[in-house]
Amino acid sequence: MAKNASFSCTACGAAHKKWAGRCDACGAWNTIVEEAPLSTAGPARRTLGGTRGTAVPLTDLRTEEAPPPRSTSGMSELDRVLGGGLVPASAILVGGDPGIGKSTLLLQAAASFARTGLGCIYVSGEEASAQVRMRAQRLGLTDAPVKLAAETNLRDILTTLDAERPDLAIIDSIQTMWADNVESAPGSVAQVRSAAHELTSFAKKRGTSIILVGHVTKDGQIAGPRVIEHMVDTVLYFEGERGHQFRILRAVKNRFGPADEIGVFEMTGAGLAEVVNPSALFLSERDTPAPGSVVFSGIEGTRPVLVELQALVAPSSLSQPRRTVVGWDSGRLSMILAVLEARCGISFGGLDVYLNVAGGMRVSEPAADLAVAAALLSAREDIALPADTVVFGELSLSGALRPVGQTENRLKEAEKLGFTNAIAPTRSKIGGADGLRVQQMPDLTSFVGDIFGAG
Ligand code: TYD
Ligand code: MG
Repeated sequence: MAKNASFSCTACGAAHKKWAGRCDACGAWNTIVEEAPLSTAGPARRTLGGTRGTAVPLTDLRTEEAPPPRSTSGMSELDRVLGGGLVPASAILVGGDPGIGKSTLLLQAAASFARTGLGCIYVSGEEASAQVRMRAQRLGLTDAPVKLAAETNLRDILTTLDAERPDLAIIDSIQTMWADNVESAPGSVAQVRSAAHELTSFAKKRGTSIILVGHVTKDGQIAGPRVIEHMVDTVLYFEGERGHQFRILRAVKNRFGPADEIGVFEMTGAGLAEVVNPSALFLSERDTPAPGSVVFSGIEGTRPVLVELQALVAPSSLSQPRRTVVGWDSGRLSMILAVLEARCGISFGGLDVYLNVAGGMRVSEPAADLAVAAALLSAREDIALPADTVVFGELSLSGALRPVGQTENRLKEAEKLGFTNAIAPTRSKIGGADGLRVQQMPDLTSFVGDIFGAG
C-alpha cells in the first residue's frame, strides 16, 4: 500500500511523496508544500474488503423524475452561465483572481435571488459585516432580504445553516474557512478540501445550494480553486483584464448545463452591469479598418460573439524573433505561422509577431485559425481586409480549410451587427443570413490569392 503522501501541490492538489520545485502534474513552480497526514492516530485499519458491509439497493436508469426546478435570479447573464438558473442542492465554485469582482458579483447575485423570494445567506470570511454592508449600500442593495454573517469557523457556519435552512448560501471565500478537526492552517490544501467537502455534503443532504468563492493564487502557500473542482457540480471562472471594464463569467464544468457558456459583465462605479450584446461591446472600440485587424465570428457556449483580432508584424532585432500572444493559444499561433510558410511560401522569419484579442477576451476555438492567419497576413502585407467582413474557418496542416460548427449562427450574428461580407471554408452550410455575401474558400492558398492578390 502507498504511504500517506505528505506533500501536495497547492495549485492542482496532486499528492507527492517528496518536495520538489516543480509539480509534475500541473507544471507550476514552487507550489508544493508539506501537509500534515490526514490520520496518524490509531493502528492501521484493516482493508474494507475483509469486513462485511450492508448491500446497497441497486436501480435501473429509468426515471419519472422531472428535470430539476431552477430558480432564476433575474440577472440573465448569470442565469445563462448556470445553465438556465440555480439548481436546488447544487454546489457551485466561482474562481477568479483576487480583486476581479467575485464578491461584488455574488453580493449582487444574493440580492437578486433574495428579491425573488429565495432564502439567502452570505457568509464573508474576508470582510467584516460593516464592510459588506457598505458595499451593499454602494450597489443599492440594502433593501434586499439577504442574511449576512462574517465568520470563518466552519462548525459554527454549518450549525447556523442547519438552523436557518436557506435556499442558497454563499461562502466568500473557501480559503478563509477553518475546520477545527483538521490540523493545518486555513488556506492549506487539507483545510480547503475538507471545508469544501463538508459544505457540498451539507448542500446534498439539506437541499441548500452552496456557492463557494475561490481565489486563484499565485504563491504556493494557499490552495487554489482547482483543488476542489472535482467536488462541486458547477465550476465558473470570473475572468478579465485589470485594465478593462469587461468581466467574463465562464462555465468550465456544469453537471446541469452546457460548459463553455459565458456571461459578460461590465464593472462600473455601481457594481457589475450585464452586457446583453457582447459582440457590440467587443467591437465598439474598433476604428476604421486597419491592417492587422480582422473580425472573427466566434461561438461561446450557445451564443455567437464577434471579436476583433489584432496582429502586428515588425522587423526583429533578435536572433529569435518574438512571438507574443494575448487571448489565444501560442502553440496554435506557431502552427499557423508554419502552415503559412510551408503551404503558401510566406515566411515570418526575422519578424516579430504580436497577436491580441481585443477587449480582454480569450478565444480558444480552432475556428479562429483563418481569422488569425488573415490578421497576420494583413499586418505583414500592410493591407487592410475589405471593410465589414467577418472571417472564420479551421486550418489543417495541409493548408486546407475545414468547415466549422454553427456556421449559420455565426453568419446571422454578423448580419445583425451590420457586416456585409463573410469569408468561410467551402462546404460550410450557409443560409439564414441573406444580406451577407459569403466567399467560400477551399484552402489557405486561394484565400491568400483572392484577398491579398498573391499566391
Ligand atoms: P471584489 O468584488 O472585492 O473582488 P474579489 O472579491 O474578486 O476579490 O472587487 C474589487 C474591485 O472591484 C475593486 O478593485 C473595486 C472594484 N469595484 C468597482 O469598480 N465598482 C464597484 O461598484 C465595486 C463594489 C467594486
Ligand atoms: Mg472578495
